[in-house]
Amino acid sequence: MGINSKNSKSFSSLENVLIIGNGGRENALAWAIQKNELVKKVYLNPGNAGTERINKCERIKIDINNKNEFVEKLNFLKISLIVIGPEIPLANGLADFLRKKDYKVFGPNRDGAKLEYSKSWAKEFMQEANIPTANFWKVKTLEEAKKIIYSSSTPLVVKADGLASGKGVFVPSSKDESFRAAESIFNGKFGNSGNMVVLEEKIEGPEVSIFALCDGRKYILLPSAQDHKRLNEQDKGPNTGGMGAYSPAPLLTEDYLDRIIKEIIQPTIDELNKRNIDYKGVIYFGLMITKYGPKVIEYNCRFGDPECQTIMPLMDQNFVCLLEKCSMGNLIGDEKVNISDKVSGCVIATSKGYPNEYKTGFPIKIGNIDSNDCQIFDSGTSLSKNGELLTDGGRVLSIVCQDKDFDMVFEKAYRNLKEINFDGIYFRNDIGHQVRKKFRKGI
Ligand code: AMP
Ligand code: GLY
Repeated sequence: MGINSKNSKSFSSLENVLIIGNGGRENALAWAIQKNELVKKVYLNPGNAGTERINKCERIKIDINNKNEFVEKLNFLKISLIVIGPEIPLANGLADFLRKKDYKVFGPNRDGAKLEYSKSWAKEFMQEANIPTANFWKVKTLEEAKKIIYSSSTPLVVKADGLASGKGVFVPSSKDESFRAAESIFNGKFGNSGNMVVLEEKIEGPEVSIFALCDGRKYILLPSAQDHKRLNEQDKGPNTGGMGAYSPAPLLTEDYLDRIIKEIIQPTIDELNKRNIDYKGVIYFGLMITKYGPKVIEYNCRFGDPECQTIMPLMDQNFVCLLEKCSMGNLIGDEKVNISDKVSGCVIATSKGYPNEYKTGFPIKIGNIDSNDCQIFDSGTSLSKNGELLTDGGRVLSIVCQDKDFDMVFEKAYRNLKEINFDGIYFRNDIGHQVRKKFRKGI
């Protein structure tokens, strides 16, 4: 049944699904969505060179800023559900626009996306709702920042207020470093995203990502995940978009998850409702498990990358129905997310030089890959004129495997990764070290 049976666009048919985005995350979503037999076609706008290796998937190229052309194409393709992957179109109000045109959309409106696109707003939101998070100061000038940084007893974390592709956070080890970070942001390193700066108390503990699929009032949780943000082994080196992940996170016992629901997830949903924000999409809770309890490091209004690639293979064919229910405000809230009894792990292969400068255009050779419980999701790839697969980004592709335990998962992932080659390929060998015997024994 449709949300509005007068309108043909909103009928509950899943025949043609559109995903907006071009990363590994969107390919993984497509892979999980196409599992449902009701789905005949999954379009990705624009997708990447890996998209069309996925069953039922096709790339399209529509300029989402040209609203008329976009709607015409949606009608032509008889799109019934639209899933918006990245934060930028959400922050720009794409979901608002499509909902006004009566499309079923998975992804929050601009008001909900503010959880991600304004860190100061998100911090005040948490403060208002008594949600545990690091103490913070919102500052508009370097002078103000300087005063707070040098009067603090410990070096403060410095964050650009707006979107910065995951690069706007500095975790310094001295007050001078904090000051230099604030200075670079106010000097325009991130353009308008740095008009305001958030200074934060530095907190400590392991990090875990939790994803809640929301329909505006109710929500259901996906399996938790832990990602590795640092470039180098032993979690050293610069922050990246993510070098690998594993799911579920054994760190979270059932009791601890209950605590997180009570102290963080439910209060977030309640505060959204209190503010009349009709959030239909995923809320990504980036949490730190400190000795004082769980605290929110950040909210995102989208799935994590590479957490999404890691979690999607654990979903069954019902996953797309959950997205549709969220888009229609129809969740019951006690739906079972049917997940595999296996665990999953993902390793990202990057171009040499990432997250700084890197070259692209190198041919990618893929040999014999296990046909069971092993997926390759392209992140930054393109095709040459002759149809050869080429590197086309910093994070090039991910290899994702499932098995009975994490030792088997990562043995399989690294064995298959040996079959993949391109000039300058780089990956960490210790993804999942927290859950692999080899590392726990210190071998
Ligand atoms: P974000 O982009 O907000 O996820 O931040 C990137 C990384 O910076 C996080 O994954 C944390 O490792 C670290 N971080 C952010 N905020 C803090 C904080 N208040 N204290 C310590 N580390 C932080
Ligand atoms: N994996 C972290 C992120 O997607 O922001």
